Amino acid sequence: MAKPKVFVTRLIPDKGLQLVREFCEADIWPDELPPSRDIILERVRGVDGILSLLTDKMDAAVMDAAGPDLKVISNYAVGYDNIDIPEATKRGIPVGNTPGILTDTTADFAFALLMAAARRIVEGDNYTRAGKWKTWGPQLLLGADVHRATLGLVGFGRIGKAMAKRALGFEMKVLYYDPVKPDDPEAEALRAQSVDLDTVLRESDFVSIHTPLNDQTYHLISTDALGKMKPGAILINTARGPVVDPGALYHALQDGEIGMAALDVTEPEPIPADSPLLELDNIIIAPHIASASRATRDKMAQMAADNLLAGLKGNPLPTCVNPEVYA
Ligand code: GLV
Ligand code: GLV
Repeated sequence: MAKPKVFVTRLIPDKGLQLVREFCEADIWPDELPPSRDIILERVRGVDGILSLLTDKMDAAVMDAAGPDLKVISNYAVGYDNIDIPEATKRGIPVGNTPGILTDTTADFAFALLMAAARRIVEGDNYTRAGKWKTWGPQLLLGADVHRATLGLVGFGRIGKAMAKRALGFEMKVLYYDPVKPDDPEAEALRAQSVDLDTVLRESDFVSIHTPLNDQTYHLISTDALGKMKPGAILINTARGPVVDPGALYHALQDGEIGMAALDVTEPEPIPADSPLLELDNIIIAPHIASASRATRDKMAQMAADNLLAGLKGNPLPTCVNPEVYA
């Protein structure tokens, strides 16, 4: 029997790629940079499956270009805002993602950003390298304490909860806002208190974003929201860039309305080299690497391949975003 045809939009770790190569006739985009829109539309023609990254928009046009044989889209990410889910569902195409396995790795990184911002680690390293370290200074690079501070979580899903768990060890007070599940049964054990968004913003020393990107969360962190935060507060975003309005963030940081921001995600991505945000000292920007541990990226590759192969065989995906397709 002929092997199913798939388009894989980037080189993912071998753990997953080997499986795909073994079972499929795989067209694998080899470059470091994503395939352009035109290339995607061309390469998906007639495929049975697509393994996509969060940088690749999978909408009706791509599904049309692929044609009637398309049986599955497997996203190498937990977030799937790059995929038009209603369109996929309408066509009966199951979409897979990689939840769970990257939760702790991502929370580790979010906490690392929190600590790096609080204790000015990046500024300190720059200072040392610039040859400015002349003596021990009583007022040199003073930061904020993490222990016993208040952590406000916007979103209390898997990653938000993993942040709360880390905060326990630092004896932090944890507040969370989650409109989907305001009374989460796991909150008590994590000593996290459900409050409204205003309370998270007003009372937290650290506000960390853990929501998916959708119509409700687009620019949720606006001028108005930033204005409610404490003057020295630190904003951490490891979720999706567009949850924060970048223009509003620039002004809040520039005017000292908030203390600092530490971002792993930006709008747009990558952040343009001439973005005004890059001129500020009170911001740390990482290149979307929160899930980037060797072990986790291997697991994501395996899971994305498992979803792809299951979809090609007509089996339910191990982790499916739109299980309604099976109803
Ligand atoms: C990364 O941002 C992911 O959604 O997995
Ligand atoms: C993602 O894993 C989340 O639900 O936070």
